[in-house]
Amino acid sequence: MSQKEVNYGPLANFLGVWEGESGVDRAPKPQGDKTTEFYEKITFSPVGDVDNAEEQDLVVVHYHQVVTRKSDGKVYHNQTGYWMWDKGSDEVMFSIAIPRGVCVLANGSCEQGGDVNFKVKAQIDDPAYSILQSKFMQERAKTEAFEIDLNLSADTLSYSQTTFLDIYGRKFEHTDTSSLKKKA
Ligand code: HEM
Repeated sequence: MSQKEVNYGPLANFLGVWEGESGVDRAPKPQGDKTTEFYEKITFSPVGDVDNAEEQDLVVVHYHQVVTRKSDGKVYHNQTGYWMWDKGSDEVMFSIAIPRGVCVLANGSCEQGGDVNFKVKAQIDDPAYSILQSKFMQERAKTEAFEIDLNLSADTLSYSQTTFLDIYGRKFEHTDTSSLKKKA
């Protein structure tokens, strides 16, 4: 792993601290759903180059996302992981750890024009890009798939994501959308 003269490619402009005030979360409740407005802060930090099996050349950025409910100022979601870009194949990978006993590894593609756009997904039955979760979550609040569409345009970062759940005896699309500006 090296941090010297790293070309972060499509990840370069993510580095820094981002804040948003327009997040909307739709989460499951036993009798339906709940929509919550949130503030958030996402910090992207450089990790460097990572070589796998002397063959795969990744560049990696660490992220940490902290989400605060507008109504009472309480942090109610905290997530961390990595965005990884494979220089050779242009594949993008996204890892998520959330403090419910759930981890995700998603993959997909990157489009670079004026904007940078990443679309990645994971599915429980995919042999590589899948979801690892506790026994409790498998039985009571199972994540079956995840997808995110992340867009970087000048100084605005926005995303739309869906976590496909099996909870309270039904299928539920847990969605989050947000838009953030770079603060540092
Ligand atoms: C901005 C991002 C997110 C926010 C604000 C958020 C918020 C929430 C909220 C408020 C609930 C309902 C909790 C309750 O009723 O007690 C929930 C449930 C859940 N979320 Fe998220 N979530 C986010 C992202 C994610 C992601 C990325 C995953 C996994 C890939 C995830 C997995 C789950 C699961 C498995 C549940 C079901 C647990 C339950 O409702 O008891 N969430 N989330």
